[in-house]
Amino acid sequence: MEQYVIKGGQPLEGEVTIAGAKNAALGILAAAVMTDQEVIIENVPNVRDTRVLLQAIQGIGATVRYIDEHTVSICGAAINPNSDLCVDDEFIRKIRASYYLLGALLGKYKHSQVALPGGCDIGARPIDLHIKGFEALGAQVDIANGIISTHAEELIGNHIYMDVTSVGATINIMMAAALATGKTTIENAAKEPHIVDVANFLNSMGANIKGAGTDVIRIRGVKELHGTTYSIIPDQIEAGTFMVAAAATKGDVVIKNVIPKHLEAITSKLNEIGAHVIEYDDSVRVMSDKRLKPTNIKTLPYPGFPTDMQPQMAVTLALSNGTSIVTESIFENRFKYVAELARMGAHIRVEGNTAIIDGVESFSGANVAAPDLRAGAALVIAALVADDFSVISDIKYIQRGYEKFDEKIRGLGGKIEKVDTDKDIQKFKLKIG
Ligand code: EPZ
Repeated sequence: MEQYVIKGGQPLEGEVTIAGAKNAALGILAAAVMTDQEVIIENVPNVRDTRVLLQAIQGIGATVRYIDEHTVSICGAAINPNSDLCVDDEFIRKIRASYYLLGALLGKYKHSQVALPGGCDIGARPIDLHIKGFEALGAQVDIANGIISTHAEELIGNHIYMDVTSVGATINIMMAAALATGKTTIENAAKEPHIVDVANFLNSMGANIKGAGTDVIRIRGVKELHGTTYSIIPDQIEAGTFMVAAAATKGDVVIKNVIPKHLEAITSKLNEIGAHVIEYDDSVRVMSDKRLKPTNIKTLPYPGFPTDMQPQMAVTLALSNGTSIVTESIFENRFKYVAELARMGAHIRVEGNTAIIDGVESFSGANVAAPDLRAGAALVIAALVADDFSVISDIKYIQRGYEKFDEKIRGLGGKIEKVDTDKDIQKFKLKIG
């Protein structure tokens, strides 16, 4: 079982380059099957979730060709419209985002089948809003034997109000509506940068989508979509993770290939607690040389503070010189890292969807387990601060969303290695001393 072994206590310093946005890539890769022409997608992050989704896309008959590590060609022409277009159980169990094929295949073929999604265990993660949107467009949606099936004689545009702001449902409905007849309006749509990226991608294929990035998205259905070449935006959460790691380790790091506007909520909070963030055109520099201050955080849909940065920020606040309150308003189970952090000396108590964090001077190294993707990244940050050895297990969660995570941290002077056995851990400890 792969683990990270880390010797913390030194600041991260240097430059790191951010990969393509995982949560944009997952929507875009799924949408690529909506044309019979070749689609070339650049800046695809080489992470487990994108690799698994591409396997699922091959599984329904599309041709997938890796042009290089980060560029992939997809062609949906070979998909048999008369097949059941069922996305195999094994793929959906591994990642949540296979459900984007529901909307993409429904849009193009007017039917689709996907196993009920899994995904990081950070809450119930229902899909009622996806279903509501498909039904509003005239599709029949059934759930039986753990499979969601959609079918429509024709998709007709409609006015859809999202009771809850949902990234996944906004993307899924946008895809199905792109090839519906007539006009669709999505009210209370999610506004994350990855929603805009998927809309821009679909428009580059000939779709007619306006307003992405605002809470009202207007879609005029078109008859068909054509091939395109498209490059995915940088990952705001990977960038934010390295920004927080630089601040927590009292380092000085330039994070390259970012869109500073997407990082505003993180930049604002880091400046507020005493770190120093300088914005350039496509990079940010994060410096900190003293103990950081406490603050309060409430996670909100974009442009509010992102829920995917909550665990990482909580680690930094757990080292501050005071008490902070972190309220998680998006997911109901996103504090699972608290028990692991307590093993490293953090003083955090959770009451409902709020964590009360009493800052401590430092962490001690410990053996901890990553409970989910972003909590795993947060534990790596904590281990990089602790002035001794830590071992992090279940790193498969981290590998779902961070490309070459340990390699990038080593590039910043961090003492981290991916190991398989206790013997490897001992060798690392002897090497580092
Ligand atoms: C996406 O998940 C991201 N995943 C998550 O990132 C991210 O945390 C989340 O958006 C919020 O930004 C991908 O893009 C693959 P939601 P998603 O639908 O689409 C409720 C990461 O770490 N809801 O915006 O599943 C839901 O329960 C991952 O990269 C419904 O009630 O999130 C939640 O409370 C973790 N009904 C809220 O909406 C629905 O039909 C927001 O969920 C759908 C969602």
